[in-house]
Amino acid sequence: MAYTHMMYRPAPARGEAALGKRVLAGGVDVEHVSIQDLDEAPGLPALRDPFGRAISYLRVSVTDRCDFRCVYCMAEHMSFLPKADLLSLEELDRLCSAFVARGVRKLRLTGGEPLVRRGIMTLFSSLSRQLASGHLDELTLTTNGSQLAKYAEELKAHGVRRVNVSLDTLDADKFRAITRWGSLPDVLAGIDAAQAAGLKIKINAVALKGVNEDEFPRLIEWAHGRGMDLTLIEVMPLGEIGEGRLEQYLPLSLVRARLSEHYRLDDIDYRTGGPARYVRVAETGGQLGFITPLTHNFCESCNRVRVTCTGTLYMCLGQEDAADLRKPLRASESNDPLFAAIDEAISRKPKGHDFIIDRRHQRPALARHMSVTGG
Ligand SMILES: C[S@@+](CC[C@H](N)C(=O)[O-])C[C@H]1O[C@@H](n2cnc3c(N)ncnc32)[C@H](O)[C@@H]1O
Ligand code: SF4
Repeated sequence: MAYTHMMYRPAPARGEAALGKRVLAGGVDVEHVSIQDLDEAPGLPALRDPFGRAISYLRVSVTDRCDFRCVYCMAEHMSFLPKADLLSLEELDRLCSAFVARGVRKLRLTGGEPLVRRGIMTLFSSLSRQLASGHLDELTLTTNGSQLAKYAEELKAHGVRRVNVSLDTLDADKFRAITRWGSLPDVLAGIDAAQAAGLKIKINAVALKGVNEDEFPRLIEWAHGRGMDLTLIEVMPLGEIGEGRLEQYLPLSLVRARLSEHYRLDDIDYRTGGPARYVRVAETGGQLGFITPLTHNFCESCNRVRVTCTGTLYMCLGQEDAADLRKPLRASESNDPLFAAIDEAISRKPKGHDFIIDRRHQRPALARHMSVTGG
């Protein structure tokens, strides 16, 4: 497929710090069209996979690094990617903008921990133009909250309205045991700062057998008491972590059944196109989500794809198949090869995933960690 006149000219001043200050070219020069032309690309066909699902949601892992080492996510001693393999912030902007030009309406930056990537605010700042122009409905992030106190105000200023914060327990010792390196007071201060800045927070908690399974009522009352939704997540078999998944795996069907003994859980029709199903807790009035990739198939409404910090596009969180977008991104100033690679990849988006955790499948279903693909 040909996309003529879609040339990319790197920002006049190179370097990540310059990203937020880019001077966009006025007028269209066929040979040297700036990234602005991606933003204004009129009439490009929206991405649709072979099963007719529109791709409107892109999750981008901006780094594989993290200041925590959560037991279900990473091994204690991880080797991270060499920095040279990572897409620069400018490349990430160009990649995101290419997807926005093709119909993506929601962007979530994740990781690893997105807020430990140096200069990350310049990427938020530069992507905020897509909100201002109306090409994007939402710019958001998933974070462990450790740096939120520092960045909450800036995120708000860059158009972020909602933030997902991962927090599995309110017990400081357990928190340290789960995250290995994290500090609960820092995360709670981050949540306070984010709420004070006017950001809406959703809490994500991974359900871990024998670790936080007795804490869900407390988490519900705390989150809902502060006006935050809570979503519980089943452990997914991603990456070698040095511990058996069977020991961690707690089916949310069981959690839900137990919670129903204490609360009235009313099904609500709130859907995100993702694996979460929501109920309203009658006693608190708050929303409670269940992300159950293992016990419930959510693929039929899947509207999302994921890009890693090295520019690898995964069409499905639960499949190995991927496409390299860094090569076409770096090969040419023209966006044609990039669009062609994206189109080709989306035409291979599978119908669904094959996660299995059982006694016959002790190995991770996928070798890559969640911190690589982005949660
Ligand atoms: C990979 S993290 C990246 C963003 C950020 N560092 C954070 O923790 O929110 C995104 C989400 O994935 C979840 N996660 C990580 N590994 C997981 C696994 N194996 N199964 C289920 N959820 C996982 C985390 O709890 C977090 O909510
Ligand atoms: S879940 Fe998030 S905070 Fe925890 S190790 Fe993974 S990337 Fe870091």
